[in-house]
Amino acid sequence: MSQENNTMTTTGGNPVADNQNSKTAGPRGPVLLEDYQLIEKLAHQNRERIPERVVHAKGSGAFGTLTVTHDIRQYTKADLFSEIGKQTECLLRFSTVAGEKGAADAERDVRGWALKFYTDQGNWDMVGNNTPVFFVRDPLKFPDFIHTQKRHPRTNMRSATAMWDFWSLSPESLHQVTILMSDRGLPLSYRHTNGYGSHTYSFINAAGERYWVKFHFKTRQGIKTMTNREAEKVVAVDRESSQRDLYESIEKGDFPQWDFKIQVMTEEEAEACDFNPFDLTKVWPHADFPLIDVGVLELNRNPENYFQEIEQSAFSPSNIVPGISFSPDKMLQARIFSYPDAHRYRVGTWYEQLPVNRPKSPVKTYHMDGSMNAQEPSSSDAYYEPNRMGGPSQDETFAEPPMRISGDADRWDHREGNDDYTQPGNLFRLMSPNQQQQLFNNIAEAMQGVPQEIIERQLAHFDRADPAYGQGIRDALSSSSS
Ligand code: NDP
Ligand code: HEM
Repeated sequence: MSQENNTMTTTGGNPVADNQNSKTAGPRGPVLLEDYQLIEKLAHQNRERIPERVVHAKGSGAFGTLTVTHDIRQYTKADLFSEIGKQTECLLRFSTVAGEKGAADAERDVRGWALKFYTDQGNWDMVGNNTPVFFVRDPLKFPDFIHTQKRHPRTNMRSATAMWDFWSLSPESLHQVTILMSDRGLPLSYRHTNGYGSHTYSFINAAGERYWVKFHFKTRQGIKTMTNREAEKVVAVDRESSQRDLYESIEKGDFPQWDFKIQVMTEEEAEACDFNPFDLTKVWPHADFPLIDVGVLELNRNPENYFQEIEQSAFSPSNIVPGISFSPDKMLQARIFSYPDAHRYRVGTWYEQLPVNRPKSPVKTYHMDGSMNAQEPSSSDAYYEPNRMGGPSQDETFAEPPMRISGDADRWDHREGNDDYTQPGNLFRLMSPNQQQQLFNNIAEAMQGVPQEIIERQLAHFDRADPAYGQGIRDALSSSSS
């Protein structure tokens, strides 16, 4: 580039002659109002931040590819699974949930697993976690749950009392609490976590048949975790341990990989299932619904600009593609609304025009105008639909088969007929004695300072999952208080 066309400019493209000295009346000042270069610089600086995500604010991301290794076309017509060897570009943003944007990475917390696949038929976002289940099963409880994870309004500190008060009054949380307090609740790095879609979704095949599906990404780096004491040492010297691990391993060509697998349930099996297969607090047992191989996910490219490509990235469960769809899961239904609403507030009306969010396939809508609209101008006469002006129109070949549902509209008690204890108990029983001891210690530590009445209420839940679970925590509580 020649010296001439490398000249710095203002945002209006005007050449800048001096970027070191403000324009002042005399060498000692004051500054002149006409120094628009200074004003532009300060004004831009004031606008450098956008609101952080209300949850999952601290995150790291990288680009990569999904390569299909197995044929699953009997279950789905989704284009990204259309042939063995097919590769689809993707973005994966990992995160912690509760901490703010500046929080340390090595915290005991769920890890977010937000994937965006840039398929030939639009973006498919799988916005999951490193856990197969969640704390609540009714979305009406989500904002309250998150309040207990964030700061107390008066002390401005996180409150163990609030967390255990809420959990002990919401026994459906027991499964996820058990995972959070287990060794897996404090991963060594993002590369050493599994990813789960968590919800049940639909697959629809070319014959128009619907299957229920769960998504699993199993780490090829192995599950690696830290104890609370090990994490404290990490945080003391490095608050960006997961960001550093991800960035540096990709920079040196050590690309992390995950095996992508699914579980599939037929509509008939779902009707006969002895638990609600759309309940986000439950897994589908592997013995009944074995994992089916699909492909390999690899992360191989760091973002060039963290803010543009990761902070402004916007993932939503509402982004589905032909062959993949929703399920009756109440939590999923709420998320379909919540995420695009958050994006319009956090990033802006036209957030999907940003390069990181923009589909690689054509986008043809009739949305108009609005703040920061930079969409390609369409035919000036086809600005409404239907029209005879050659504008894009619907295509019924993309219609989904009807989803079978039934029932009266009501506020159904989501506790009724739901077993909150068997699956957490199964998880407890598959842990090694060492993992169980870590679980007891982590829970006892997390309960420090919590009123006894709340502890007793929670212990009753652990007892119901497995008497040895409750007893182990009682022992750990008494040895930590002695
Ligand atoms: P399986 O024995 O077939 O599977 C056990 C699963 O538990 C494995 O996926 C294993 O993951 C995972 N696991 C092991 N330790 C932990 C831990 N500390 N925290 C979270 N997950 C762990 O049994 P089931 O399918 O019958 O499930 C039994 C229990 O296992 C469930 O209640 C659930 O809590 C847990 N689980 C089940 C999953 C499922 O989809 N069925 C998925 C994840 C957990 P890995 O193979 O990667 O070591
Ligand atoms: C982020 C809402 C449940 C995973 C978010 C955000 C909102 C939100 C508003 C911020 C989005 C943004 O600003 O871009 C909700 C609601 C839920 C819910 C209302 C339940 C009713 C879940 C569940 C999972 C999950 C069950 C996982 C299975 C994530 C992840 C992110 C996120 C991974 C970060 C996405 C990113 O990296 O940009 N959630 N959430 N959430 N949520 Fe949820």
